[in-house]
Amino acid sequence: MIKDCMHLRAPGNWINDPNGFLYYKGEYHLFYQHFPYAPRWGTMHWGHAVSRDLVHWEHLGVALFPTKDYDQNGVFSGSAMEIDGRMHLYYSAVRYAQPQPEDIHLALDDRFETSQAMVVSEDGRHFDNWADKQQIIPVITDTTLGDRQHTRDPKVWKEGETYYMVLGSTRDGARGRVLFYRSADGLSWTYANQYASPELGRILECPDLAKLREGYLFFGSPMGVTADGLAYADQAMYARADFDPETCRMTLTEPLSFLDWGLDLYAPQSTLDQEGRRVVVGWMRMPRPVTDAPDGRGSWNGMMSLPRVVEMREGQVCFPVHPNVSACFTRPASNLSPLAEGKPVRFRASLREGQTLDLGGYRIGMREGRVEADRSAVFAGLQGCRLTARSPRLPENRCHLDIFVDPNLVEIFINDGRYVLSHVVYGLSGRLEGSVESIFTI
Ligand code: FRU
Repeated sequence: MIKDCMHLRAPGNWINDPNGFLYYKGEYHLFYQHFPYAPRWGTMHWGHAVSRDLVHWEHLGVALFPTKDYDQNGVFSGSAMEIDGRMHLYYSAVRYAQPQPEDIHLALDDRFETSQAMVVSEDGRHFDNWADKQQIIPVITDTTLGDRQHTRDPKVWKEGETYYMVLGSTRDGARGRVLFYRSADGLSWTYANQYASPELGRILECPDLAKLREGYLFFGSPMGVTADGLAYADQAMYARADFDPETCRMTLTEPLSFLDWGLDLYAPQSTLDQEGRRVVVGWMRMPRPVTDAPDGRGSWNGMMSLPRVVEMREGQVCFPVHPNVSACFTRPASNLSPLAEGKPVRFRASLREGQTLDLGGYRIGMREGRVEADRSAVFAGLQGCRLTARSPRLPENRCHLDIFVDPNLVEIFINDGRYVLSHVVYGLSGRLEGSVESIFTI
């Protein structure tokens, strides 16, 4: 079976959102949206990988795939819960009005309907797609409640004795909203409440409500928020929130912010790690597949970000890299050459106003109090993509950077995760310019 280190990548062909992220019986499980037949989006399956440390991943193949009338065209995103020792997977079940005649993996005129379903597994390794699925929330036909087509991505959690589910939805495809359901047993669900706001884009995808010590944090991926003609218009965002478990009334108490300032990351999902830390990973969108993978995975498109801890520091939400990742970088290196063997490299550096770094053609600098990144030299020939990105203004005219570089991904943790800026890249060179404090590989 294919293994990954640091970033979980498609085992071949296509992946998108992280799904069912759960620490269960001594292992981390990370499922993902997967099209197993080509490096492009199509009929969704759930691929499955496990890890003991969130760093080394072993791919276990396909866990969920269409078998039912209600999910015949796709097992869309969702989440996992352990209930009475069994793994419960919640997902959105998709049925096309009609498939495209020349490509049955896509819906004709993009018309489909969605219900919510679940699968129960005794051990988190075996999934009976015929015997152990059930539909738990039928297609919503009442438009005041939700949308028949675009209501999806159940994220389930437990508080006290009650299970909660949040779903992404829309009003007429024009205004995002989230729906809340409650359940006493994780099986039978009752609608409780909803929250709508213009901030939630056209359609809100992949909501997640995380309870931190300091309060609730809402994550969501609103569609059409950066609609300036460049890829991507849909973005992963977060904001602190108030939530009343009795009524499921949620309000955002601050404006939404980008989770990652590179604007490639999407559809993040959080879970609790072994130590009880809140950890989040997101899908890194890739505009074209990698075709020369030396490990036999063939063409692949899509990978997960590094796991990030979600933390409040001085009233601010921060996303530092997970300590298990940092702990792996113990071997000193002097340049980017480990990349040639597929090994990641970690650079630590301090930047002052006006200073720059060049890591293999990927340029990082500090200007007007912001960290700026430019991937033009390592993203050649890709039309309509964002080539540059910058962080919000920092409080000082210097900053500390912790930079993780993989052949196809650069992740910059600014001031220990106060902001993160990640970029997909293609074809980093060995060049290194600028002054760094340390370089390590694994
Ligand atoms: C987000 C998303 C989800 C959906 C899934 C389908 O990227 O569109 O809303 O469940 O991907 O693959």
